[in-house]
Amino acid sequence: MCGIVGYVGHRDVVSVLFSGLTNLEYRGYDSAGIALNDKGDIKIYKTLGKLINLKNELTERKSELIQPTSGIGHIRWATHGSPSLINAHPHTCTCGKLVVVHNGIIENYKELREELINKGCNFRSQTDTETIAHLIADEYSKTKKLEEAVRNSVKKLQGAYAICVMHKDEPDVVVGARKHAPMLVGVGEGENFIASDTPAIIEYTKKTIYLDDNEVAVITKDKIKITDINGNEVVKKVEILPWEPIALSKLGYKHFMLKEIHEQPDVIRNVLNGKLYDIDAPIALNEVKIDKDTLKKLIKIEIIACGTSLHAALVGKYIIEDFAGISVEVEASSEYIYRKTTTDSSTLVIGVSQSGETADTITAIKQAKEKNAHVLIITNRPDSNMARLADSLIPVNAGIEVSVAATKSYTAQLISFYLLAIHLAEIKGGLDKSYLKNLKHELIQLPTKIEEVLSNTSAIQECARKFSSFKNFIYIARGVNLATAFEGALKLKEISYINATGYAAGELKHGPIAMLDETMPVLSILIPGGISYEKILSNCEEAKARNAKLIALTSSTDSNLDSLFDVVLRIPPVSEILSPAITCVPLQLLAYYIAEFLGKDVDQPRNLAKSVTVE
Ligand code: G6P
Repeated sequence: MCGIVGYVGHRDVVSVLFSGLTNLEYRGYDSAGIALNDKGDIKIYKTLGKLINLKNELTERKSELIQPTSGIGHIRWATHGSPSLINAHPHTCTCGKLVVVHNGIIENYKELREELINKGCNFRSQTDTETIAHLIADEYSKTKKLEEAVRNSVKKLQGAYAICVMHKDEPDVVVGARKHAPMLVGVGEGENFIASDTPAIIEYTKKTIYLDDNEVAVITKDKIKITDINGNEVVKKVEILPWEPIALSKLGYKHFMLKEIHEQPDVIRNVLNGKLYDIDAPIALNEVKIDKDTLKKLIKIEIIACGTSLHAALVGKYIIEDFAGISVEVEASSEYIYRKTTTDSSTLVIGVSQSGETADTITAIKQAKEKNAHVLIITNRPDSNMARLADSLIPVNAGIEVSVAATKSYTAQLISFYLLAIHLAEIKGGLDKSYLKNLKHELIQLPTKIEEVLSNTSAIQECARKFSSFKNFIYIARGVNLATAFEGALKLKEISYINATGYAAGELKHGPIAMLDETMPVLSILIPGGISYEKILSNCEEAKARNAKLIALTSSTDSNLDSLFDVVLRIPPVSEILSPAITCVPLQLLAYYIAEFLGKDVDQPRNLAKSVTVE
């Protein structure tokens, strides 16, 4: 969903923009561009593809620059208009004096475009963003003040935008504005920043001001002015970022994804910290701001999420129903928002999102709030838009996740759901005390068990090597691990582009079995001691009878499995109900190593972005 950076100050402007954009590249990498105010001249550089291409271009053309003192930059995830040089940002007005970068979608851009063409504007791209450049330039011709021109223009925009704007005639002023798309100001000394997200500024400052919808920020090197859309100054809180730039380093791992997979034991310890400290004490989940009596009577929960978070939500549904006996519906946010739901003031609506910025989920949350539901947000970004909409907020504390494919944020969401489900069960009082104790004891053991999986990945690597040439995969599971099958298959799709699909094991025979032959490996998740083991084994036999290659992911020590399956990946003993927090790890690693063997761009897979701020 595009990343934007604006800078005015004493440092080398090109380096600051590149460093900011590098840390925002998770938001898109179809094209990159910067505009510099260089001794009164606007200079624009754009390249297709990743930021590295733009860096190389600037290295070659460095001699063209005198001494830029301000600039704006952009990395694109294409929405309107294909990824091409002409559609790459920054965009300019007809005379080229005004430049704009934009994240979001302008819904009324066609009408505006027509009006502006009738006024003589010369459009060059297919983007909605170019409309903003012409619109602000048109207003500027009346006011001769960039700040005012931006305010007057954004009033006419419908949709979502975070924009950074510069004008040749106002050197060293960058104006930012936002609505339904993230934007913040970085507060420096003799320099100031505007950016889509905190990683863009962390190298230079920890002081941050989060802009709200319909606010406009004007930065110079010594001053920050924030107004509402009508020009009234707004006093904003300066917040201090609670993390260090080191979080953005790979720390010796080949990819961020591998580093983040390895961080999971500590992430789980972090999530449990302060909430589960004694197996005899109730879960301390003070974040849920609903009184106990209301929670006791709670009969309906709806969970809305997208992508990997949707899979965490499916595990959440299973365990909340299992532990607390409350009926839970799970729905993709993009479906929830376009139908008549039965959400009402007695519904607890849970929004799950690692980024806290996913547009579909934000819209769904707003709709739920309009129906007076209590909204609980589970997110890895307590500083996000979604967090600010929350009535209750559970921050999952996984730390910054750089790799586009979510891993540690997923396990952190799962653990948050376990805590929530146990918390609800304790309030409802339906679960046996010794069962609860065991559950808590095992939750505390999870990080050590995952460390065991991570300490020896040779079998997973071998399996990845053996199967990396296959073009299709089926993942099967039952019960609480069905979501793990979906998530394992999604990880493989996302980073290796192999067609992988998760199915309920019992559904295999109702259609998918038609696809089975020696070219279609079937990976099954088998946890003994629970309700599904024997049944899944029978499903595997059925697949074997159709010549499918079989991979087992199991905590079973039964040596008979080695003759039925082509590969057996073993994990430490774990109860079925808690196993999704472990079974996801070897599947993340399998996807990682397959993508690695295939030479794919693991951290930045094609067509994806980590934060999807358009519906
Ligand atoms: C994008 C990402 C996925 C992510 C999904 C939902 O599609 O590529 O990895 O699962 O958005 O994001 P959220 O931030 O709401 O969890």
